[in-house]
Amino acid sequence: MTIMKELHQEHRNLKRLLEMLERKVERFRAGTHPNFQLMSDVVSYVGGYADTQHHPREDRMLAYFQGRDTELDNMMKACEDEHAELKQLSTHLNDSIDGVLHDAAVVPLDSLIDALAEFVQRESEHLDFEESKLFPKIEAIAGDKDWTTLEQELPSPTDPLFGLKQSDEYRDLYQALVDDERVG
Ligand SMILES: [Fe+2]
Ligand SMILES: [Fe+2]
Repeated sequence: MTIMKELHQEHRNLKRLLEMLERKVERFRAGTHPNFQLMSDVVSYVGGYADTQHHPREDRMLAYFQGRDTELDNMMKACEDEHAELKQLSTHLNDSIDGVLHDAAVVPLDSLIDALAEFVQRESEHLDFEESKLFPKIEAIAGDKDWTTLEQELPSPTDPLFGLKQSDEYRDLYQALVDDERVG
């Protein structure tokens, strides 16, 4: 069941970044001036990885299980809709942060903080939904033959360039967040 293990691992990694981002947003709301560049890097990395790697792979896996179970079909439809909504949310947020970073747009601080908080909450809720409901349902329905087929159709993305687990970008970003938390 390699594909599921990889998706679970990606959820854990994304969740870790989101939890750190959440703490930053709380401090930002409390009045601490944030490291905007770092926030921007985290949002674009989490959003970018989810939108271009993680969710498309999930979508292809969901398409494979289409029509097997009505309850699962409904959950999968909700999940695909969320992928589309999250993509819009992350694109919009990235544009807002870019505007602030490059002084190209006047974004009220409160609405930027709210948008960041919403991004963290929606991405986290999505991960929680998949971990607690969707994935257990798929795992209950799928058999060995399905996983063998899926392994062939959806090859592992974890090559050194794109893999979330091994990616240098992920490690550097995580370390930068840890360092930034120490500074305050
Ligand atoms: Fe997803
Ligand atoms: Fe996911």
